[in-house]
Amino acid sequence: MEPALNRSLVFIGFMGAGKSTAARRTAELLGIHCSDSDELIEEKTGLSAAQHFEAHGEPAFRAAEEAAVLELLAQPPQVISLGGGSLGSVAVVEALEDHVTVLLDVDLDVAWARIQGSDRPLGRDRAGFEYLYHEREAVYRELADANFSSSDSDVIEAALPSLVSMAHGSAGSLRMLWAAGPGGGYPVWVGEDALAHAPWPLPVESRRIVVSDTNVGDLYAGKIPHASGLIEIPAGEESKTLQTAESVWHALVEQHATRADHIVAVGGGVVGDLAGFCAGTYQRGVPVVQVPTTLVAQVDSAFGGKTGVDLPEAKNYVGIYHQPSAVIVDPALLASLPPEQMAAGYAEVVKTALIAGGLLWERVGGGDGIDEQIIRECARTKLAVVAADERDAGPRQKLNLGHTVGHAIEAATGYSVLNHGEAISLGLLAALRLSDNDELRAEVKALLAAAGLPTSFAGLDVEAVLEATTLDKKRLRGDVPFVLCSDPGSVRYGVEVDERELRAAVEELVA
Ligand SMILES: NC(=O)c1ccc[n+]([C@@H]2O[C@H](COP(=O)([O-])OP(=O)(O)OC[C@H]3O[C@@H](n4cnc5c(N)ncnc54)[C@H](O)[C@@H]3O)[C@@H](O)[C@H]2O)c1
Repeated sequence: MEPALNRSLVFIGFMGAGKSTAARRTAELLGIHCSDSDELIEEKTGLSAAQHFEAHGEPAFRAAEEAAVLELLAQPPQVISLGGGSLGSVAVVEALEDHVTVLLDVDLDVAWARIQGSDRPLGRDRAGFEYLYHEREAVYRELADANFSSSDSDVIEAALPSLVSMAHGSAGSLRMLWAAGPGGGYPVWVGEDALAHAPWPLPVESRRIVVSDTNVGDLYAGKIPHASGLIEIPAGEESKTLQTAESVWHALVEQHATRADHIVAVGGGVVGDLAGFCAGTYQRGVPVVQVPTTLVAQVDSAFGGKTGVDLPEAKNYVGIYHQPSAVIVDPALLASLPPEQMAAGYAEVVKTALIAGGLLWERVGGGDGIDEQIIRECARTKLAVVAADERDAGPRQKLNLGHTVGHAIEAATGYSVLNHGEAISLGLLAALRLSDNDELRAEVKALLAAAGLPTSFAGLDVEAVLEATTLDKKRLRGDVPFVLCSDPGSVRYGVEVDERELRAAVEELVA
C-alpha cells in the first residue's frame, strides 16, 4: 500500500467517540504523523482544552480552537483528530472540503458514560450534553465522507485501504459507511457513479462474475468495471429457489470459477439473497460484492449478510450468513425501477426511519422524497443494528418492525394478492396500533398513503391473519416476536401482546 496521502484524514465526532485513539491507530498503521487540535492548543497556551475553556470562557476557547484547526488543515497531509465543537466554525468547515472527514459515531449514553465526571466543562450537565449531541449530529453527518460506528483497532485496520483510497482521491466524491463486523467489516460506498468510482475490494486477478436477473442484467451488468462473466436468473421471487441456486453453481463451474474469483450480485433483494447464498456455498465460499438496484435492497437487504432461498413451504427457510466484501450503492440506478417497487421500498424506509428516529425520521416523517441522504441514513441505521447483533439473537429483531403482522398478511393472502411492501405497510400500522401512539400511527398512515401504499384492505381475513401470526410465534419457540415503536427512535422487541389487542389492531386494517 502506498502510504503517502494527497489529503489529510480528519477524524471528527462527539466528545467521547474515541477520535484520538482511532486517529493515532490510523497514523501508526500508515507510519505517518498524527495531530490533535486539543494538544496543539495546549502546546501553544500551556493550558489543556478544559482549562482554557474554564479560564477564558467558551468564545475565547473556540477562537483558539479555530486557529489551531486551521493551522493543522494547512499542513501537509496527515492524520488529524479534531475537538468535538470545532465544526461550529465556518472557516473550519470550508477548509475541511480539501480533506477526508472521518466521522466516528458514538451512542449518547456511551459518550455520557465516558465524559461524565471528567474535567470537561460540557460533561457536567446531562441535559446540556444531550442538547449539544443532537445539535451537532446533523453537522457531523453532513460533513462525513466516511462514517464509522466503532473505533476498534481491528475495524480501523480493516478499513485502512478504503480510507487510503479516499485520501488519494481515487474514490471520487463517494461517501463511505463502514459496516463493522467479524473480521473487521466491509465498506459501503454510496453516491453518484458509484460503480465507476468505488474502490474494488478484491485484487484485479480475482475474476468478477456478475449474477443478475433478466430485467437488471441488460440495464446494469455492463456497468461493472472489468466484469468477466454474467449469469442471469429469471426475475422475481419465484427464482429464489434451490433449483435456481443449483443452476448458478453449474454456471460457475462452466465458467471455471475458483475460490480466487468472486461474485458480484447486481439486482434487488432476490438476486442479492440468492447470489450471496451461491457465493457463500460455492466451493465452501467465495467473496461477494453486493450492488443493490431496488430501493428495498439499497436501504435494507444488501447489508447484514443474510442470504438464502425460499422453500415451497416457507420463505427464506434455507440460508447462511455470508457478509459481503463491499456494497456499492448508486441511487441513480433506481431511476428505472417501476413505481410499485419504489413504493415497496418506501415501506422499508418508513420502518427504518421509525427505528432510527432523529435526523432520518425528521426527513422521512416530514414527507421528503427519497434521495441519497435518506438512502445513506437508512443503510447506516441497518448497519448499526446488525453490528449490535449480527446473528439475530436480540436487537436485530428491531428490523422486524411491522413484519410480524406483515408476514402473516402475506401468508394469509397466499403471497399473491398483496406484494411484500403492501403487506408491510399494513403490518406497520398494526404495530403502531399495538404501540399505542395514535398520533404517530396517523402520521405514518398519511405517509404510506401518499406513497400509494394501502392503509386498509377490504379482503383481509382477520382469522387467517391471526392464525398465521400464531404460526410465526410457534416457529420462534413461543417467544412473542412483536416489535413496538412508542416514538420514532424508541423501539422495543420481543414484546408480549394481548390477543384481544392484536385482534383489534388487525380488524382496524379491514376497510
Ligand atoms: N437479506 C435480507 O436481509 C433481506 C431483507 C429484506 C428483504 N430481503 C429479500 O429481498 C427480496 C425482495 O427484494 P426486492 O424488493 O428488491 O425484489 P426483487 O429483487 O424481486 O426486485 C423487484 C423487481 O424489480 C426489478 N428490478 C430490480 N432493480 C431494478 C431496476 N433498477 N430497474 C428496473 N427493474 C429493476 C427486478 O428484476 C424485479 O422484477 C425478498 O426475497 C426478501 O426476502 C432480504
